[in-house]
This record gives sequence, C-alpha cells and structure tokens, in this order.
Amino acid sequence: MDWRILFTEWADFLIRWVHVIAGVCWIGSSFYFVHLDLSLRKRDGLPQGVGGEAWQVHGGGFYHMMKYTVAPSHLPQDLTWFKWEAYWTFISGFSLLCWHYFAHAELYLIDRTVMDLTPVQAVSIAIAVLALGWVIYDFLCRSKLGDSDLALGVVGFAFLVAIAFGLTRVFSGRGAFILLGALIGTIMVANVAMNIMPNQKKTIAALIKGEAPNPAYGKTAKSRSLHNNYLTLPVIFLMVSNHYPLAFGSKWNWLIVTLVMVIGAVVRHFFNSEHARKGSPWWTWAVAAACFIAIIALSGASREGGDAALAPAPKVKFAQVEEIVVSRCSMCHMAEPVWDGVNAPPKGVMLDTPERIRLHAEQIYLQAVMTRSMPPGGNLTELSEEDRKVLAAWVQGGAQAD
Ligand code: HEC
Repeated sequence: MDWRILFTEWADFLIRWVHVIAGVCWIGSSFYFVHLDLSLRKRDGLPQGVGGEAWQVHGGGFYHMMKYTVAPSHLPQDLTWFKWEAYWTFISGFSLLCWHYFAHAELYLIDRTVMDLTPVQAVSIAIAVLALGWVIYDFLCRSKLGDSDLALGVVGFAFLVAIAFGLTRVFSGRGAFILLGALIGTIMVANVAMNIMPNQKKTIAALIKGEAPNPAYGKTAKSRSLHNNYLTLPVIFLMVSNHYPLAFGSKWNWLIVTLVMVIGAVVRHFFNSEHARKGSPWWTWAVAAACFIAIIALSGASREGGDAALAPAPKVKFAQVEEIVVSRCSMCHMAEPVWDGVNAPPKGVMLDTPERIRLHAEQIYLQAVMTRSMPPGGNLTELSEEDRKVLAAWVQGGAQAD
C-alpha cells in the first residue's frame, strides 16, 4: 500500500467534492436571487423604501419577500450574507487548478505542437492571464462603457472571445478551456469580493452613521450580479469540457467557446424574461439549438484533419495495434503506471492487455485518432501518423481480435 498515493488521491477527490458542492450552492443562490429580483412587483401601500414584493410557496409554507431598494430605515439584527459559497468555490477551484494543471503542466496545460513552453513559463502565463483578465474586465466596467449594460455586454463578449482565441494559440485545448473557465470564475468571485460585498458594506456603514446610503452602490453591485448570471452557464460548460475531447480538441475550439457563450446568454435571457413576466422569447431556444448543431459540426475538425486525413486505410492485424498501444499508451495506462507524475491509470483506463485494448477500441479512436488528444502534452510519446492510421483502420474494421 502506497500511503502517499492513497492520501493524495483522496485529498484530490475531497477538494473536488467541496468544489462541486460550493459551486452548486453559489449558483443556486445566485439563480434564486435573480429570479426573486425580477419577479418583484410594486403596489400601493408597501412600506417606506420597499421597491417591490413577491409571494412564494416552498416547503409547505408561504414566503412574503420584500426588497428595500436602498436599505431599511434601521438595520435588522440578523442579516444573512451570501459570500462563502463564492469564496469556497474559488478556493477549492484554484487548488484543483494548481494540483492538476500547474503541477502536471506538461500533461494537461502544455501542447508542444501549439507552443513549446516549459512548465514554469506555462504556469506564469496562466497566472498572468487570470490576474490581468480581471483587471481589464474591472477597468471596462468602471469606464464610460459601464453606463450602458448593452455596450458593456458586447465589448465584454468580444474581450472573452479574444482571450479564448489567444489561449488556444498558447496552451493545449484542454488547458485553454480550463483556464478560460478559471478566468471567468475568477471574475465572478472577484465581482463578489471586490465589488458587491464592499458596496453592501458601504451601504450599511452609511446607515449606521444615520446617513442616506448612495443608491449607486446598489446599482453597480446589481450590474456585476447580472454579469455573473450571464457567465454561469458557459463556465459550467468549460469546467466539464475536459472530459470531452471533441470540444477542446477541435481546431475550432475557440469558436466552440464563442457559441457556448451565445447559448449561455440566450438561455439566461429566456429565463430572465420569464421571471420578469415579460413574455417567453422562444426564439432563444432556436438560436441555442442552431449554435449547438454548429458546435457538433465544428467539433469533428481536429488540427491535423481528424480521422478524415487518415482514410482510406488498409486492413491491419491486431498484433500491430497491440504493439503500438503498449509502446505509446500503456506506460500511463496500466495498473501501476511508469510515467513520472501519473500515479494511477488515468480515468481508470488501462490499455495493457489485449482484452483491455479491445474493450477501449472506441475510446482509443476518439482520443488518439479523431481528436488527437492522446498521447497528451502534444504527443509526448510520439505516436506517429502511420501508427494512428493503423489504429483507425483497426477500429473502422470492427476492432477484430486477430
Ligand atoms: C503521458 C501519459 C499518457 C499517455 C502516454 C497516454 N495517456 Fe491517455 N490519459 C492520460 C491522462 C493524464 C488522462 C486523463 C485526462 C483527464 O484527466 O481528463 C488520459 C485519459 C485517457 C482516456 C480516457 C479519457 C476520458 O476522459 O475518459 C483514454 C481513452 C486515453 N487516455 C487513451 C489513450 C491512448 C489511446 C493513448 C495512446 C495513444 C494514451 N491515452 C496515452 C495520460 C496518458
């Protein structure tokens, strides 16, 4: 029993568990408050300072919610803050980023065929992107652009597309996607920590001094909240995308991200408009479906031409396939991998016996032929085009055992 591996594997799992739970809580509360905010209604006779009310039913009781647009005339004794969901999502997410992508940069972050970086260079660029990305976004929001939600939205969108494009020119597809997801997540958390929370605190401080709080505090906090709302769905796509090489392995991966951001925006628009009882813009679903179909079409094109570049293929023997897989894949994909930094067979995929190789025929095709995302790191074990052709022919011929 190797205690180091036992401990690190479970620590990794525990952090991931916390990350998903914190993320679910954060997104849940943020979707809830956006819904609540949009469904508030004005009527005569509401208490002083109340901008709207809403009735809700849940868990066997009725809730009567009221929103004080600035602040109540005196501070309530018990006030619930919503921030730790966001902070814990960041803390756990950043830990996972360091753990997997920074500590194993050569496997996950770097693709030598995209840009031949050392791990130190790759990690430095990644951290600079996270920090600068937030600084530029924050600058855009504070600039004149910030006066118009629409203008800011359009420029912010173009900014993210440019970053997506840039990242895919520097890192592996997998690395680029996770870094863009991490950047958007960082922007969202920083919105909470550096803008929404401080503004709420200023409002409360003014109230305690007996002064009328500046309504601008509430207004900017709300617009940052709105950005977070529109960024949520694309972030989730980016976070789970590293299990789907068709998404990140395509040469159009940056365009796929762009379409995902469009889908995220129109789907949120549909729900936001429903919550505000401003009608159901069904066209948004048509746009989302069209974008998704475009994504599927774009995903088949890998940088090197995918499987099309390898056809037509001659008939091959299984012995050839076995030799290729054992010499190019199994050093990582075996019960006790011999590749430095790989502790256990990645994703439980073992490719060290004829049965296991046959069992994974389709996966091998997807990873090593169609998307060329294996071997990782920009072909670390130097699987040749000839070898890929053999793998392709074997799977296309029905993955025969002889
Ligand atoms: C240098 C080590 C290494 C080599 C060599 C390697 N892999 Fe992998 N493989 C990995 C890692 C790491 C992952 C896990 C990626 C992740 O976390 O999503 C992986 C994941 C996979 C998966 C599962 C993907 C999933 O998300 O379920 C398959 C299938 C796979 N590799 C096939 C291959 C094939 C086929 C080869 C040889 C052509 C190969 N690998 C060579 C390290 C390697």
